[in-house]
Amino acid sequence: MTDISTNYLGLRLKSPIIAGSSDFTASADKIAALAKAGAGAVVLKSIFEEQILMEIDAQRTNNMFNSYTDTENYISFYTRQHEVQSYLKLIREAKERVDIPVIASVHCSVSDSWVSFSKDIELAGADAIELNIFIMPSDVRDTDADISGRYMAIVDAVKKNTSLPVALKVHHYFTGMANFLVQLSEKSEGLVLFNRFFNPDINISTLTIGAGSSFSLPEENGMVQRWTGILRPHVKGSLAATTGIHDGEALVKNLLAGADAVQIATALYKTGPEAISQMNNFLTGWMQQHGFTSLIDFRGKLSYAGVNNPALYERAQFMKYFSDLGR
Ligand SMILES: Cc1cc2nc3c(=O)[nH]c(=O)nc-3n(C[C@H](O)[C@H](O)[C@H](O)COP(=O)(O)O)c2cc1C
Repeated sequence: MTDISTNYLGLRLKSPIIAGSSDFTASADKIAALAKAGAGAVVLKSIFEEQILMEIDAQRTNNMFNSYTDTENYISFYTRQHEVQSYLKLIREAKERVDIPVIASVHCSVSDSWVSFSKDIELAGADAIELNIFIMPSDVRDTDADISGRYMAIVDAVKKNTSLPVALKVHHYFTGMANFLVQLSEKSEGLVLFNRFFNPDINISTLTIGAGSSFSLPEENGMVQRWTGILRPHVKGSLAATTGIHDGEALVKNLLAGADAVQIATALYKTGPEAISQMNNFLTGWMQQHGFTSLIDFRGKLSYAGVNNPALYERAQFMKYFSDLGR
């Protein structure tokens, strides 16, 4: 019997494939289809800290004056409240419809009063919270310490407000990245490597800047394998790999590097929920071929600590490649 279940953030997942946060996880119907296809868990579409903060502000204003001063205020209060209430409703509906863990997601960049919303997420029945922390280190006045301090403050504040497990979805623009990510992992139940920013794409005909593709390419996964492999021996909590995992082969590679689970989005847009059953089937077949009965038999087998030549994880230059070409 081949068992593909895994432990992620202290939750039992019947498959290591998590439907990552996207429009695919924005409605109870779509979530039900993902669960039916064999997803181990879902991460809901992110709610933005601004949406939560606007509601808190609107409530304060309303409490102060005990009435809406004009129709416009009422409409904007209603709209904002509606967004936040809809999010809590989505959690409740998803929990009613599926028997897999439902992970809420908050897109945030500051530790502010929005963190009290973590308690509402917990009360609505979510199994965990993923913080999609989005701080682009683009302000030349911000030092490394400023930015890392903001991360730490957000995690500390959320942990004070909820007893739910917390996963941190991070990007890869850090100085001293291995050291910092291990510190972050110690404050939370898990890391999600990596958040994928939309990149700019300059249009040379119109001389304007547009947005690059929302979808990943399989080649982007190499960096995720590298950092999953490097961090695995040092992270006691969970690791989820995401970006560029489009098929069963990529799923297996990330598990071998040391991921407890993977998150997918692009594959869902390209293939639909069947991408999950296809990847689960591939994993089961591959495990049977190799005589593995559970993920524990091979997870992290090729992490930095598991391979004879871990320097391969650190190779960043092309010397060998070019010398081979010359032969
Ligand atoms: C259309 C779309 C919407 C997304 N929305 C969110 C979001 O709300 N919150 C979030 O954390 N990630 C969001 N993501 C990022 C995905 O969760 C995932 O991290 C990223 O796409 C990399 O995985 P992939 O290579 O399988 O696409 C979105 C991705 C796509 C394609």
